[in-house]
Formats: sequence, C-alpha cells, structure tokens
Amino acid sequence: LKMRWVNICLLNRDGKPLWMSGRVGETLLNVVMNANGPVEGYGACEGTLACTTCHVYLPTEAYERMCQPTEDELDMLDLAVGLAETSRLGCQVVLKPWMDGMRVQVPKHTADLRGLADDGKME
Ligand code: FES
Repeated sequence: LKMRWVNICLLNRDGKPLWMSGRVGETLLNVVMNANGPVEGYGACEGTLACTTCHVYLPTEAYERMCQPTEDELDMLDLAVGLAETSRLGCQVVLKPWMDGMRVQVPKHTADLRGLADDGKME
C-alpha cells in the first residue's frame, strides 16, 4: 500500500524555501508543526480558529481549486494582518494529492488575535 505523501514548499518570512511533507488529509498547520516549528509563533491557537498566526498565501490556482473557506474561517481571515486575495488559514487547509509541490507563502507579519474576543474588541 502506497502512503499518500504530499510535499509542500513553504516560503518562510525570510524568503527561504523550506520543503516539508505531510499526509493527505492532514492540515497544513500539522505539517508545519511536525517540521519542528520553523515558523515562529505559527499555530498559536492549535487550529481552533482563534489566532490567525497560521495565515498563509496560496498560489492562485490552488486557492481556486480548494474547498471554500467556512464562515468561521472567513470571519477570522477578515482580521488577519496583510489579508490578500489568496489568503487562507493553514489550520483549515487539508492536504489533497494534487497539492504536491505547492508553494505556500508565510506573510511577513502576523498577529496573535487570541484575547481580542474576550476584550470585546472583535466587533
Ligand atoms: Fe490559530 Fe489557525 S492556528 S487560527
């Protein structure tokens, strides 16, 4: 039985490409975490859609091919620093076989938004 591995090229904040691999069905967040956290502060809320530190820019083709973001993801993305056309939250991106070789860009800046909601500043 062949294991379905997907290779992802992560362009880190310093612009350096980092290759990492994960299994089909895994989230991009998991892939980055399993690579020993090469991106500082990435995935602070552990995939609970509360921080936006997992924000990434995807290639346009991949963005369009991917499942639509949920309302919850869109709400969080709206608050993300440096929001762009092909922004997604890595904790919501699930690896598919066709993503093999995909280049994912980490934004230059990010913010951990946890706590905003508690302070009532979110709205
Ligand atoms: Fe916090 Fe994705 S890991 S929103």
